[in-house]
Amino acid sequence: MLKDKKILLGITGSIAAYKAAILLRLLVKEGAQVQVLITPAGKEFITPVTLSALSGKPVESDFFGTTDGSWHSHVDMGLWADLMLIAPCSANTLGKLANGIADNLLLTTYLSAKCPVLIAPAMDLDMYKHPAIQKNIDILRSFGNHIIEPATGELASGLCGKGRMEEPENILEMVKGFFQSGQKLIGKKFLVTAGPTYENIDPVRFIGNYSTGKMGYAIAETLANQGAEVVLISGPTSLPVSHPSVSRIDVVSAKHMYETTIKHFPNMDGAIMTAAVADFTPIVQEKSKVKRGKENYSIELKPTQDIAAQLGKMKKPTQHLVGFALETDNELENARKKLTDKNLDFIVLNSLNDEGAGFGHDTNKISILDKNNNISGFELKTKADVAVDIVEKIVDMMRP
Ligand code: CTP
Repeated sequence: MLKDKKILLGITGSIAAYKAAILLRLLVKEGAQVQVLITPAGKEFITPVTLSALSGKPVESDFFGTTDGSWHSHVDMGLWADLMLIAPCSANTLGKLANGIADNLLLTTYLSAKCPVLIAPAMDLDMYKHPAIQKNIDILRSFGNHIIEPATGELASGLCGKGRMEEPENILEMVKGFFQSGQKLIGKKFLVTAGPTYENIDPVRFIGNYSTGKMGYAIAETLANQGAEVVLISGPTSLPVSHPSVSRIDVVSAKHMYETTIKHFPNMDGAIMTAAVADFTPIVQEKSKVKRGKENYSIELKPTQDIAAQLGKMKKPTQHLVGFALETDNELENARKKLTDKNLDFIVLNSLNDEGAGFGHDTNKISILDKNNNISGFELKTKADVAVDIVEKIVDMMRP
């Protein structure tokens, strides 16, 4: 699968360096040519002898050969590689990568590399949570690097939490995915809202809408096909989720969708808001079923919170936000207003005046308006193909 792929494996000073030997073995077994680069601190955790035996190549660590003074060219190595993988990446190296510090061969090679870079951080849970580390991760993501989020479990300190390097087998799968299909969103995390919301009137009745969730589910699946991890926050639908990288959280009301979305957004690279969220909800939800009567019956409604607008306020510069607008008239004008009011990066407009577009259909006809005033129109397509166009736009937008 990885036959003749050229991979730079950077190893830094972390207990998880022992797992790098397993990762190296797995990469070599798949046919990859692996050049190991190790930092001085990395050598305290695992010996170059082990690594060179596994890779079949001398391990590089110094700028110059210690015996003959020959220059170890970081530029050549950076140009040689199809992929650079830094696993484990310590807090120290993470900070240096984010800030352009170049005091060892691994760092200079990173700065010279023209290939995609995957970074697998490994550290204690409190270090990982620290705002300084989170900021450096944001910076590295904004440069277009892919972060392999650490796993949750037992740590070298004896504490338990998020910080341990992802398991070598899982990293291997990500590397394979990267080469296999040219997946462009490996290491990225997205949130997708989908479907309708139901606002209860009484225990048996609700205010809902005709959204089926098809567009949102297609986008979630397409993001996952590109290697992303997806949290799908779904209102009531009958659709199944089949992709293992999509985890679905079921919600019912606008309030529930709001709270769940706000909670998950800070950890995401982006959010795609396809849900048809109710704009109003009954002020009072009756505890018992309302009985038939002869008089008119009115329900007083109050506005719900605007989830997309709230995310627009919370959004960090490295995060991306995509909205939808389903309009019946003044389509462009309304969509543009939503794009600015909600601080979106782009908005997907569909008009109910277009046949085959909108709720329930298996097809859709969209235009995309972005924050730089570009507008692109697309033909009527299946929702799966429309999802591909939207995800392409997301990939473009995320390019540094
Ligand atoms: N949206 C949201 N939360 C809401 C309402 C809308 O997240 N409470 C999101 C939708 O998922 C969509 C975008 O905002 O991505 C626009 O939704 P839309 O219903 O078209 O716009 P509204 O702001 O509700 O305006 P209106 O219904 O008056 O057109």
